[in-house]
Parts: sequence; structure tokens; C-alpha cells
Amino acid sequence: MEYRLTMTQLHPPLAMPDQAEKSLASCPKGGNNATDQVKVTAVTHWTDKLFSFQTDRPPSFRFQSGEFAMIGLADNDGKAITRAYSIASPHWDDHLEFYSIIVPDGPLTSRLRHIQIGDDIILRPKTTGTLNLARLRDGKRLYLLATGTGFAPFASLIRDPETYERFDEVILVHGCRTIAELGYSQKIVADSRAHPLIGEIVTAKLHYVPSVTRENFTQTGRITTLLADGKLASSLSLPPLDLDSDRIMICGSIGLNQDIAAQLLAKNFQEGNLSSPGDYVIERAFVGDGI
Ligand code: FAD
Ligand code: A2P
Repeated sequence: MEYRLTMTQLHPPLAMPDQAEKSLASCPKGGNNATDQVKVTAVTHWTDKLFSFQTDRPPSFRFQSGEFAMIGLADNDGKAITRAYSIASPHWDDHLEFYSIIVPDGPLTSRLRHIQIGDDIILRPKTTGTLNLARLRDGKRLYLLATGTGFAPFASLIRDPETYERFDEVILVHGCRTIAELGYSQKIVADSRAHPLIGEIVTAKLHYVPSVTRENFTQTGRITTLLADGKLASSLSLPPLDLDSDRIMICGSIGLNQDIAAQLLAKNFQEGNLSSPGDYVIERAFVGDGI
């Protein structure tokens, strides 16, 4: 992965608007709008169901790490098919990156899977999301818990220096069915650790715990089980989950999100929002039961 990073980009001089409270309902709808087009600059297929791609970034496009935007393609009649996508690149980068599932008959991804360098895709200018550092109370440790493409917003947050300014340790857990499905998160973590500007802080503070459920691997088991039986913390020589010091972000299927929230509520963790920062925040990685 190529980075063209300057310190000005790491610390953007522009004051960021409070984007997390904005509604995507105000996104322009309908057919293509030339100002909403970006060009694909790279595509990588990780498995037959997962790929990532980069686009150029309009100079006016601003977002906070962890947010999502609406992206899409025009159908045969020129009508826009758009879907919510987490922005996987950090806010300071000069390109945008996305990590995508392929749903065989999915209206968008059955087309999006064929994109190539030089193609145009639709990118709506508004961004929003709940996986926002401002929604969390201060703490010592930040747990980022993702399954499948739910890793995408965390690919952005683990490359944001503010994440490491807010927390002493960041524990990223990525749960998938198979080892091959970990390919993207393994590459992003490796590249982040080797990055000339953020590599040192990432190496010092980020713990990466990939886990699979349907193959043998160094770490196996569902995230819910690793949390509940204390294996996650003990494998990293960390104390058990603690309300005073630990904050959590969750991004997975509805089932995963609900099961983790239930565990946290039983420990008196409170969900955070912008007016009342809390102990955890949740975002759905997709709507529905998954494929
Ligand atoms: P759809 O008609 O949208 O979906 C068909 C079915 O496929 C869904 O009902 C569901 O069962 C399954 N499905 C959809 N997306 C996924 C997924 N990611 N993982 C597993 N099963 C899925 N998708 C991404 O690939 N990457 C992202 O970064 C991403 N971010 C999202 C952020 C938010 C806040 C939300 C709500 C959704 C996000 N999605 C993401 C899902 C995305 O919006 C689309 O649903 C997905 O691209 C499939 O589009 P489609 O039109 O092909 O199929
Ligand atoms: P499992 O293989 O035991 O179903 P998917 O590809 O279906 O989105 O699943 C991604 C990962 O999330 C898999 O490892 C899957 O485990 C796990 N998973 C699915 N549902 C839950 C849940 N409710 N709680 C914890 N992990 C889950």
C-alpha cells in the first residue's frame, strides 16, 4: 500500500464539523451527479467473497475515522444503486479505501465486484456514524471488536493518531470463519506497524487478535466466547474487562452486536453518544442476517 502522507495531513488545519450528528437522509438521491463521482485507483480481491478498493479523494470530502458514506454504481438505466460503506482509510489519507463483501445476487455488490482501475463510482459527500472516539468516555484501553467486513471502520481508527492519544492500549479483535478472510486485516495491521509516521505508535500500542471459528488457527473461537471466558484479556496478559478502564467499539452482524451488548450491559457498561459519552458504541456491519 502506498502512502503519501504529510504532517499537515496528519493534523489537518481545517476544523472538522460535527459530522457524526449529520443525517444521511440529506444525501442527494436519484441519478448520477457528476460531483459525486470518484475514480477507482486500486482493487485487491482477498477471497471469492471479499475485496478492497481505493479511489481518489475529492479535496472537499471530509470525514472522521470510523464513519461511513453512501457509495454506489449506476444501473443499466442510469439509476444510482447506493449502499452504506465504512471508510477504511484514515481521515488524513489522500485516497479513500473501502472493504467489501460480495453478495452473489446483491443489487450493488454483484456489480461492484467487477470494478477496475479507472472506473468511476458514486460517492455521496455526507458521512456519519457511531464509531466515533468523541462518544466514548476517557479510559486506558480501547477494545475494537469486529466480525467480517465490520473490520472496515477499525482499519480507519487504528491508523488515526487520536486513537492512541486517547488510549494507552488498543485491542483489535477480528473474528472470521476462515483464515483467508483475515487477509485484509492482517495486511492493514502489518502496513500500519511499518508505516514511517504512525508505525512506532501502532507497534507500541496496538494488540491485534485475529480469530477464526471454522478452521484450526493460533486463535479460535467466537469473540463473544473469548470475551465471556476471559481468554481474550488473559491471552494478552491484561486484566479482565473493567468498567473504570475499558472502552469498547463493536461492529458486526446484528447477532454479534446484540450478544456483546448484553454482556456489557450485565457489567453496567453504558452505550455512549455525543451528548453523553459512554463506555461502548455499536454499529451494524450490514443490515440482515449475513450470507
Ligand atoms: P444488499 O441487498 O444490500 O444485501 C443483501 C444481503 O446480504 C443482506 O440482507 C445481508 O444478509 C447480506 N450482507 C450485506 N452486506 C453484508 C456484509 N458486509 N457482510 C455480510 N453479509 C452482508 N458492507 C461492506 O461490504 N463493507 C462495508 O464497509 C459496509 N459498511 C456498512 C456500514 C453500515 C452502517 C451499514 C448499515 C452497512 C454496511 N455494509 C457494508 C453493507 C452494505 O451497505 C451492503 O449491504 C452490501 O454492500 C451489499 O450490498 P448489495 O446491494 O449487494 O446487497
Ligand atoms: P461462526 O462461524 O461460529 O458462526 P459471518 O461470516 O456469518 O458474518 O460470521 C463472521 C464471524 O462471526 C464468524 O466467526 C461467526 O462465527 C461469528 N459470529 C456470527 N454470529 C455471531 C454471534 N452472534 N456472536 C459471536 N460471533 C458470531
